[in-house]
Amino acid sequence: MRKKILAGNWKMHKTIAESVALAQDIVTALKAKPSASEVIVCPTYVALDRVATVLAGSPVLLGAQDMHWESQGAYTGKISADMLKAIGVTYVILGHSEQRAYFHETDETVNKKTIKALAEGLKPIVCVGETLAEREAEITEKVVETQIRGAYAGISASDAVKTVIAYEPVWAIGTGRNASPQQAQDVHRFIRTLMASLYGDSVANAVQIQYGGSMKPENAAELLSQADVDGGLIGGAALKADAFLGIIASS
Ligand code: 13P
Repeated sequence: MRKKILAGNWKMHKTIAESVALAQDIVTALKAKPSASEVIVCPTYVALDRVATVLAGSPVLLGAQDMHWESQGAYTGKISADMLKAIGVTYVILGHSEQRAYFHETDETVNKKTIKALAEGLKPIVCVGETLAEREAEITEKVVETQIRGAYAGISASDAVKTVIAYEPVWAIGTGRNASPQQAQDVHRFIRTLMASLYGDSVANAVQIQYGGSMKPENAAELLSQADVDGGLIGGAALKADAFLGIIASS
């Protein structure tokens, strides 16, 4: 039985003070009414340290939105795995479609980051997903397979099982148009079958696959009840405590 895993990706939203306030609201609510699901918040880099203080002693874990694959060096603007670990970060989102679309992320850089994160003991949340044009061209599975094979190149089964996969159809992100539960289930099933062919059944059955793309309290229960949907990577609805907590409550 896989544990549900719900992560709020705050993207480029919220000042430090706003991040602290949101984290406090989430922690307070979950302390009063604990969830059986794993809950993660992923603030901006600048808010990580202060949010870590708020999360300390709570069940909520800290995630970062990206990292660089090198340990250190002349990489202006970048953050290393070591720096994230020193703050208390557990998870790191890698290969988000916005990184791919706007910041030159490729399957190769996702692979380098995934390898580095695993080597440093961070848990990668590896994001995959097709664009609307790719879905309409009926190449969703091909696109997702290429992304997964690329991200996991050279990664062993014992490491692969420590990762989380997020299926985020690009056309569903921030659009208010979520994948239908069946559409999500179909791709999640495909990903799990692919992981089985790459790593065997025990890894495939253990690996958690999150759905992301316009998940909200109104559609979460049905999406999360699909057999291969093990959680959510939530953008917009994670920016408000009530909505994020509503999704958690339906998991
Ligand atoms: P939305 O929930 O805003 O569609 O964003 C999903 C996402 O990209 C999470 O990483």
